[in-house]
Amino acid sequence: MSGVDNLPALDQADAQTFREAMSRLGAAVHIVTTDGKAGKAGFTATAVASVSDTPSTLLVCLNRKSQITPLMQENCSFCVNTLAASEEPIADVFAGRTGVFMAERFKAGEWDTIKTGSPALKSAIAVFDCRVLEAKEVGSHYVYFGTVVAVRLGPAAKALVYHDRAYKHV
Ligand SMILES: Cc1cc2nc3c(=O)[nH]c(=O)nc-3n(C[C@H](O)[C@H](O)[C@H](O)COP(=O)(O)O)c2cc1C
Repeated sequence: MSGVDNLPALDQADAQTFREAMSRLGAAVHIVTTDGKAGKAGFTATAVASVSDTPSTLLVCLNRKSQITPLMQENCSFCVNTLAASEEPIADVFAGRTGVFMAERFKAGEWDTIKTGSPALKSAIAVFDCRVLEAKEVGSHYVYFGTVVAVRLGPAAKALVYHDRAYKHV
């Protein structure tokens, strides 16, 4: 495939309209955690996607301005915890909506670890424990590609989904 450098320049869609359009896409809500030399932290994320199943790989997008970014860079591992419908309060804590930061956020929920040492939420409907394969800077965010080194299946409960700027149960 030839690079975008060979194509004529086009104006970008404006950010506000882009965000409005994205609000119409329903997306599962996850808590992405990390722990290691740089310390423990976690954030609420919907920008999580499957990339490959052989080997099992997913991606997570994190705002470059987040205080969690330097920790993700240094710890080189993360864990994606997919929330059940009942876990809206945990989503709010890890989105910074309750004014609680960094390791203090883990007082919400019950946590253990699987392989990488990044916190795994015991009540999550699915947990993906990942080693960072590559971190790529794209605009305002870092895209972290993670090799999934362990998966844990939780209870088959309803999922928490964010759609039209509100939590929904699916
Ligand atoms: C439903 C929801 C989804 C979010 N998804 C993302 C995401 O995918 N990536 C991201 O960087 N921030 C996302 N955020 C914002 C972060 O959770 C929030 O900015 C982060 O916890 C701030 O971290 P900090 O205050 O510790 O820097 C989301 C917030 C909410 C409420």
